Amino acid sequence: MTMSKMEIQIRETNSSDLNHISHILYRAFEQTGESNLTKELLKDPTAKPYVSLIAFDKEVPVGFILLTRAYINEMSVDQHLMHILAPLAVIPEYQSKGVGAKLMHRGIELVREMGSELIILLGHVEYYKKFDFIPNAIKVGYSSPYPIPTEHQDAWMVKSLNPLGYVIPKGKVVCCEELNKPKYWIE
Ligand SMILES: CC(C)(COP(=O)(O)OP(=O)(O)OC[C@H]1O[C@@H](n2cnc3c(N)ncnc32)[C@H](O)[C@@H]1OP(=O)(O)O)[C@@H](O)C(=O)NCCC(=O)NCCS
Repeated sequence: MTMSKMEIQIRETNSSDLNHISHILYRAFEQTGESNLTKELLKDPTAKPYVSLIAFDKEVPVGFILLTRAYINEMSVDQHLMHILAPLAVIPEYQSKGVGAKLMHRGIELVREMGSELIILLGHVEYYKKFDFIPNAIKVGYSSPYPIPTEHQDAWMVKSLNPLGYVIPKGKVVCCEELNKPKYWIE
């Protein structure tokens, strides 16, 4: 497989994509945890409005990204709109070919268009720096739903989507009901 033969198309997911999404997540993470989480997130009304995108190379499902709604201190629909990014996955044979970056750029663009003012995530620091995420969101004022060990705090990253900066009130990030369950945060 060469780059020139790839024809990556990205579109929003629909209910008939669940098997594709599970397949991508299982291939990328080699376990079922992320796939089970994603199925629950897509059903969770407090995760909306979300952005859920799938990448295909012609007919082959190769990548997936999900950004779900997050909140500060308490779950309230009156708050500024912000999102948490999880998961992002590309199947192994398509990794390091720019598919993840395409999903990131489109995902960021779509949440920005819906009025989101901030994205937060827990992930690989060097990877997400490429998309202007800042390490250690706690220092910016946004703490995590559950404590993150000091040595991993850089992986808690934030990016403002508002040209005025971090306008969302500082505080503790609360995810949608499903993602806020301690089992996803405490090992
Ligand atoms: C992380 C992941 C989504 C990146 O997608 P991708 O399509 O491979 O990424 P891109 O092609 O956009 O970017 C590739 C670059 O990112 C780097 N990269 C990939 N994974 C990385 C990681 N874990 N940490 C730092 N850099 C990483 C590659 O080395 C490559 O660098 P280069 O451009 O200098 O060669 C993909 O590798 C993946 O699904 N991994 C397994 C699941 C996972 O870890 N998901 C993220 C959870 S936070």
